Amino acid sequence: MYDVREYMYFCILGSHPPLSTAELFSVLPDIKKPILSDKMITFDSTSWDAFNLMNTLGGTVKLGEIIYNAHSAELTPALLADLIAPSKASAEGRRSLDFGLTVYGSKSTQKKFFKLPIQLKKELKAKGYSVRWVTGKGGEPLSPAAVAKCGLTDNPNADLCLMVNENTVLIGKTTEVQDADAWSIRDFDRPRRDSKNGMLPPKLARMMVNLAQTPDGGVLLDPFCGSGTILMEAAIGTNIAQIIGSDIDKKQIQDTEANNNWLVKEKFITAKDAKRFRIFTSDIKEIQKFISPKSIDSIVTEGYLGPPLHGTESQKTLSANASQIHDLWVDSLVELKPLLKTNSKLVIITPEYSNTNGHSAVMLDADLNNLGYKKENPDLSVLNIESTLSYFRDNQFVKRNILILKPI
Ligand SMILES: C[S@@+](CC[C@H](N)C(=O)[O-])C[C@H]1O[C@@H](n2cnc3c(N)ncnc32)[C@H](O)[C@@H]1O
Repeated sequence: MYDVREYMYFCILGSHPPLSTAELFSVLPDIKKPILSDKMITFDSTSWDAFNLMNTLGGTVKLGEIIYNAHSAELTPALLADLIAPSKASAEGRRSLDFGLTVYGSKSTQKKFFKLPIQLKKELKAKGYSVRWVTGKGGEPLSPAAVAKCGLTDNPNADLCLMVNENTVLIGKTTEVQDADAWSIRDFDRPRRDSKNGMLPPKLARMMVNLAQTPDGGVLLDPFCGSGTILMEAAIGTNIAQIIGSDIDKKQIQDTEANNNWLVKEKFITAKDAKRFRIFTSDIKEIQKFISPKSIDSIVTEGYLGPPLHGTESQKTLSANASQIHDLWVDSLVELKPLLKTNSKLVIITPEYSNTNGHSAVMLDADLNNLGYKKENPDLSVLNIESTLSYFRDNQFVKRNILILKPI
């Protein structure tokens, strides 16, 4: 008998592990005993539903079950071979078995177990299997697309994810992977994309929608909707009753409408689902004319990030941009407050600029109390995660800080 704790699962997180963790904790609020190492998080949960979870989360690329929990000294190729292929392949027909193996943990741990996949391959061959070790490109962890392509979630194939800490090893077997094609199609193939305004990646939009946890039958608003990435992600697989988008720019509203129609055409949502959209042109300062008081359950929005940056702006320009966006947010939070229901949540982005000349960030913390809001970013200190959740790509001059607010 193997020592496996009941209900023990794992997720392999995407490019921004703190943000992905916050999303996971919002979607699965009963998580217990979480451990985070590198991009792998393990935990107990009684409401695990692998398929639904994989289709819901934007920030998790693989997930599965922990099949073995042991002392790290026990980690041998023979143990892994026994776990994925408990019996010998029959003498008459060699069975083929493809596997992937990724070790998560410190760099030194990864180095220590560098040879494990080759040793496992040998061990499985000795058991009579015809074995293929599927590797990630250039030593990278095996991608969800490769796991799907090689059928590694189908027995006896296996994609093993190992969390090796100082004394323990948790061995996970992937059961679901992110549908990389569907995400990429929504990112790159939608008809209207606006690189000038900065495109919100759909995975980040989905994470924000999940952080808001709009109740079933509730109303979600994006008052700076641009070409509608957040609205699209809010419409897929949710029971939100109304999805409202507005923007000051009529062209953006036309783009949102075109993207929403495309979403139906590509069968991401049904025509009936699309009836939930309500899209209109409005300056945020006029929005009360269009929306009834106390009718909104959640506001999920990227907000205005300021003029596009080229990386050559002076410190003075960066500070002036931050000050302009700060003031727009103060005005916006005043306008939005009467529209909110008591238990509503806001998930917004405040930009932080940096280049070789300087740095400037939009900070709202000091204004929140006066404006009638409080910050509600999840407390992930048990995992050594700061409450500031950020999204940043190396080649960009704008970092997006995600702020979760509640009215008081
Ligand atoms: C960064 S873009 C949002 C992009 C959007 N998340 C998307 O995925 O396409 C910010 C948007 O805010 C809009 N905007 C700027 N000032 C505004 C205001 N005062 N009221 C309403 N919308 C405004 C801009 O037209 C722009 O489309």
